[in-house]
Amino acid sequence: MVYRKYFLIITSLTLILISCAGQKIIHIKLNDPYAEIQPTMWGIFFEDINFAADGGIYAELVKNRSFEFYNPKMGWRTVEIDNGSGDFFILNRSDFPNNPRYARLISHHEDGKYGIVNEGFRGLPVREDIRYRFSVVARNPDSIPLKMLVQLLDSTGSVAGEATLGGFKDQWEKHEATITSSVTDAHGKLNVLIDGRGTLEMDMVSLFPADTWKNRENGLRADIVQMLADLQPGFIRFPGGCIVEGHELETRYQWKHSVGDVHERKMIINRWNTEIRRRQAPDYFQSFGLGFYEYFLLAEDLSAEPIPIINCGMACQYNTGELVPLDELESYIQDALDLIEFANGPATSKWGKLRTDMGHPEPFALKYIGIGNEQWGYQYVERYTIFAQAIREKYPEIKLISGSGPRPNDDRFKYLWTQLPHMDVDVVDEHFYMDPDWFFNHADRYDSFDRNGPAIFPGEYAAHGPEGEYGSSRNTWLSALAEAAFMTGFERNADIVHMCSYAPLLAHVDAWQWRPDLIWFDNLNVFGTPNYYVHKLYSNHAGTHVVPTLLDGQVITGQDRLYASTTIDEEKSHAYIKLVNASDTVTQVSLKLDGIRAVGENATAYVMQSDDLLVYNSIEEPKKIAPAETIIFNIGKSFEYELAPYSFHVLVIDMK
Ligand code: AHR
Repeated sequence: MVYRKYFLIITSLTLILISCAGQKIIHIKLNDPYAEIQPTMWGIFFEDINFAADGGIYAELVKNRSFEFYNPKMGWRTVEIDNGSGDFFILNRSDFPNNPRYARLISHHEDGKYGIVNEGFRGLPVREDIRYRFSVVARNPDSIPLKMLVQLLDSTGSVAGEATLGGFKDQWEKHEATITSSVTDAHGKLNVLIDGRGTLEMDMVSLFPADTWKNRENGLRADIVQMLADLQPGFIRFPGGCIVEGHELETRYQWKHSVGDVHERKMIINRWNTEIRRRQAPDYFQSFGLGFYEYFLLAEDLSAEPIPIINCGMACQYNTGELVPLDELESYIQDALDLIEFANGPATSKWGKLRTDMGHPEPFALKYIGIGNEQWGYQYVERYTIFAQAIREKYPEIKLISGSGPRPNDDRFKYLWTQLPHMDVDVVDEHFYMDPDWFFNHADRYDSFDRNGPAIFPGEYAAHGPEGEYGSSRNTWLSALAEAAFMTGFERNADIVHMCSYAPLLAHVDAWQWRPDLIWFDNLNVFGTPNYYVHKLYSNHAGTHVVPTLLDGQVITGQDRLYASTTIDEEKSHAYIKLVNASDTVTQVSLKLDGIRAVGENATAYVMQSDDLLVYNSIEEPKKIAPAETIIFNIGKSFEYELAPYSFHVLVIDMK
């Protein structure tokens, strides 16, 4: 009997010891903020890839509206109705060099209609009861009165709305009409017809929904911008990416071609048009309807710092690697200086005046500029240095961002880090597209970085399985979980990591070249990936300072596949605890909130979890994996918390 009693005591003690050993005690020192979280910490990176601009966020619905594609009739075909027949020519004019081509339509019969139909970007979407703004720049060379009939069609060809325009003169003039659609259809079309006999010449055939973001003409898709606004981004880096560099220098992004009257912006081929062999997009161009003015405006709308990236005299090193000789960089440097004047200069300056004339007399308060995208080699160092000197001399207040190559730790990256101390860099932009295991295994990446070097900006990152693995590069839960784990390292190292952005931002489900991507859309819908929701949870719970989060006195970087970091918001008196369990078992943690008097009775938990690591969101199931909000009752300064396998948690605690 006595033996049995001792046996029971020993057994219970053993169980207690085992459970103490199995349970992880995490101390969070809430009274020990050791670095500020910069307001720029969680941002976005916009690149015109995957139909992100034309056919995407830029709400223009007509493809090849100014007949400037290399095949000027691409996206258009002729239409004959009733007894209609005619001719469709493309003409060139030498007095309009940025947009020389236009269309001439000749309709032969009085009792017929003849014209052209536009297919839109993978279809021309219409929504029931939404007004559409149609406009065209046209002239009537014969001055014989005629009528233009404009029709919205659904995917079966039935008319969903129409308008008639007249009063065309023999001089170019802009004509406008509004049409309301009677149906919703993702794959409609637009008919532009001459009703009867006559000749009409036209350019800039345009159709926008009236309900763009802030109802702007030449506006953006409100549903997509709302997804960006929901992220509360601290900055927007734009317009790329390789798009800045060009396949060759000729096709680099030239911001001056993207501002001023939309009609006079000089369109170019999008470098992603033919870049990816298996995902060709011959109809992918940059109309620059979304140009630098619109990017600055978007940044302002989002309360995000604008971060333009400029070409530094180097074309994409994966393509031609074309270089501008050092003694011929002047016009490139002038472009950079003029850009700063465009953003910040007074209305009396040349470029400040253009901004003012475009509708924005107030400066855009530009603070950062990126010199080059992901360049590498001594050729980059040489060019960066010349740019930096010129910009510092004229605009010493502007912070300069350098690249560091395309990989996180290869020879190109290491070489650039040997040069950074001599390059006068404020912020260094890192790019890494690596597999999920790399992200899980490198959550401690920044713990050993130089504290006296430039600030760090992981400007393009994504857990990126090769095709055929990890769900074929899809935005799987595995990829998002790996990023969530890695991002604890951004927060923990907030003294040097001042900004970060996932890449790329947007992709059209029917016209993408590259994946994974943060947000996907089709012509009528938009959805966030698991990666989007992970980024949003961090961004919406950024806090103002980071505090120590320790397991056995150590920072938590993947011990038993557990990751953690904590920030506090000094104004709101909130603590935001981020926890990632990347293991396949339940993990119990005991959270000790040290250094404060008391906490609110209940906490809020936002949890993302799935046992299926290859699950992803889609148009059909847009929130298959998304945060669930729950309340944790009666927490106290010390409480137990359970982490399901493969889960990411943000706990919001009220600090007293
Ligand atoms: O985001 C896709 C591409 O990846 C970017 O254009 C480039 O910067 C990187 O190589």
